[in-house]
Amino acid sequence: MKPIKKITCIGAGYVGGPTMAVIAQKNPNIQVTVVDLNRARIAAWNDHDLNNLPVYEPGLDAVVNEARGRNLFFSTEVEKAIDEADMIFISVNTPTKTYGKGKGQAADLKFIELCARQIAAVAKEDKIVVEKSTLPVRTAEALKSILDNTGNGVNFQILSNPEFLAEGTAVTDLHNPDRVLIGGEDEQAIEALVQVYEAWVPRERILTTNLWSSELSKLVANAFLAQRVSSINAISELCEVTGANVDEVARAIGQDSRIGPKFLKASVGFGGSCFQKDILNLVYIARTYNLHAVADYWEQVIIMNDHQKTRFAEKIIQTMYNTVNGKHIAFLGWAFKKDTNDTRESAAIYVADHLLDEEAHVVVYDPKVSAEQIYKDLDYLGTRSPEDNRRLIKVVDNPYEALDAAHAVAVLTEWDEFKGYDWAKIKEGMKRPSFVFDGRKLLDRKELNRLGFAYYAIGE
Ligand code: UDX
Ligand code: ADP
Repeated sequence: MKPIKKITCIGAGYVGGPTMAVIAQKNPNIQVTVVDLNRARIAAWNDHDLNNLPVYEPGLDAVVNEARGRNLFFSTEVEKAIDEADMIFISVNTPTKTYGKGKGQAADLKFIELCARQIAAVAKEDKIVVEKSTLPVRTAEALKSILDNTGNGVNFQILSNPEFLAEGTAVTDLHNPDRVLIGGEDEQAIEALVQVYEAWVPRERILTTNLWSSELSKLVANAFLAQRVSSINAISELCEVTGANVDEVARAIGQDSRIGPKFLKASVGFGGSCFQKDILNLVYIARTYNLHAVADYWEQVIIMNDHQKTRFAEKIIQTMYNTVNGKHIAFLGWAFKKDTNDTRESAAIYVADHLLDEEAHVVVYDPKVSAEQIYKDLDYLGTRSPEDNRRLIKVVDNPYEALDAAHAVAVLTEWDEFKGYDWAKIKEGMKRPSFVFDGRKLLDRKELNRLGFAYYAIGE
């Protein structure tokens, strides 16, 4: 197998962008081209001002700065990049279907299929095609079939190489992965990809499996992680009625080395592009094979998560004397977790939607999320007209403006900066009683109580 000289990645999003930037950084001899149909996105990746990169990740600007123009390129010339590459990563989005069979559950594979057809049409030489997007099990089979049946007789090897990076820590996760997983049938193709990663990942952390194990492992890893969050969130509700404290419970059980301390932070509910989508996918696959007990079991993780979001919104309403009509509620945070500008499936969207139904006036501050994105998220739900969303929700770029004259504060994202605010000054400016609803257990209860806030946190 000749070593890989040119890599193309289709899809310049949250996964494709950072992953390729690091592959290029660590393999200066490989030319890496990231292509996307979205011209604005590619322009942003090429922007001289590194603050304008389309994905915000700590440390990403430095990686892009090192490799861009050297052996890392961003382009909209999809066909040219396919033609030139020895290895093609598919990193396009696979949203949950919004129509037809599997609506609301199955992954929509239309973008993947389009990519496969395009690769098949353009390729004149043998290529290794790597699935990077999260996909339902056995997608590789469909991919292979499209490539082989519509191609020009060239040979395609399919590999599955799921991404385990978490947003906000993408660069550290990529630099120092717990493991890299490569699934495939062909030893030589697998070895070619192993070599790319071996540039910086110790060999023993590169696992190779068959295709189906690799595809399934990605879904299962996310399902297990999400399940831990739903499990601790279920316990948070129990803690609230029994007088136990969920953080203390989490610490006590997390010290058991069999359970472990991570992913036991009770919250307003998990968000992000992966957890819900991957579980729904798992549920859909299980149902397809008539494994209803398996499907029901995993579906409960989502049901619990939805319950947690609703419960938080209801808690705000009940505590504020059963009406939030016309009341000013400041939202600290909109992103689905700190250190990212990503808002996909963020709990904030659903909590806001619930409060807007009750005619609350929500004023949002998030250090990284734009007003445009926030309105887009709400409009996408279709609960009310875009005009009503803009009438009821205001987005500001100064936290103190959001908090001024507020009846209540709700913490939706655990941004570090919220802890450092001048809470004494905030208290002075707020209506009384001054409520704080901490969906992330971020703030200091003792201090806020001392300042005179009425403080409520999940699981206490
Ligand atoms: C996840 C997986 O971690 C990653 O391996 C996979 O590749 C993609 O999906 P990500 O969605 O970026 O990554 O974020 P993650 O850190 O896993 O958090 C997901 C959600 O769970 C966030 O909303 C977070 O706030 C929430 N969460 C996480 C909790 O509420 N409590 C926890 O203890 C951990
Ligand atoms: P992820 O989190 O999986 O990276 P994103 O939505 O952030 O998802 O990114 C996926 C990217 O893939 C988008 O920028 C989209 O424009 C791009 N894309 C989808 N289909 C194609 C295609 N056929 N050719 C090129 N780019 C595509």
